[in-house]
Amino acid sequence: MWIVGIVAALVFGFGALRVQGRLAPGPMPFWLEGLFLENPLRRAWFPPGFVLELAGTVTGLRVGEVGTGIGVVAAALAAAVGPDGRLWGVDRQAAAVRATAARLWRQGYGARVRLDVADARDLPWPSRSLDLVVMVAVLGEVPPPGRTRALAEVRRVLREDGRLVVVEYWPDPHYLSEKAVRDLVTAAGFDVAAARRGRLQHGVVARPRPS
Ligand SMILES: C[S@@+](CC[C@H](N)C(=O)[O-])C[C@H]1O[C@@H](n2cnc3c(N)ncnc32)[C@H](O)[C@@H]1O
Repeated sequence: MWIVGIVAALVFGFGALRVQGRLAPGPMPFWLEGLFLENPLRRAWFPPGFVLELAGTVTGLRVGEVGTGIGVVAAALAAAVGPDGRLWGVDRQAAAVRATAARLWRQGYGARVRLDVADARDLPWPSRSLDLVVMVAVLGEVPPPGRTRALAEVRRVLREDGRLVVVEYWPDPHYLSEKAVRDLVTAAGFDVAAARRGRLQHGVVARPRPS
């Protein structure tokens, strides 16, 4: 009987988070990030490999991650860019940036990474400085009027031949559908170059539309 109670509480809690995520989008509280971003389910179903496959070859590139969270994807990107590449990362929550920095230094990638507390709508990176920007489970946390602004910022910091990878996971309370992502990136001046669906997740690769 107590198992039924626990399952009911989990279903109710998850449902409440999804409703809240839809009605009032905002950053996932830092104390929830460990639970949502680093658990056996995520490791098995939503590994950073899905993001890396969409990103293509990143060795030696200058890569930005918007919304690093606790650094699960950032660690994979930092490994993939190699010693000649660089990873810039931002998150709105200082605790998330600290957690990502600690993880990357612990794993030996600290010297190739620059992390800042910053908002997706006002990125601290110079214009046309990056080859690739990655946004995993973050766009839906930006309140709707700011999503186009955040993507315009990504377009500003990307080189003309750069690319953007957006990945969304269904269990995320702020999940955006593939159509929603396509519409947003297109409105922000990108062309969708590729898209891929996985198990309860999807990813879109977009390139700045030539101006
Ligand atoms: C669900 S977590 C995903 C973290 C990481 N990308 C991953 O997949 O493991 C989303 C992160 O985006 C951050 N975030 C939300 N809105 C943001 C904004 N407007 N600017 C910067 N970061 C933001 C949150 O603080 C949170 O750490």
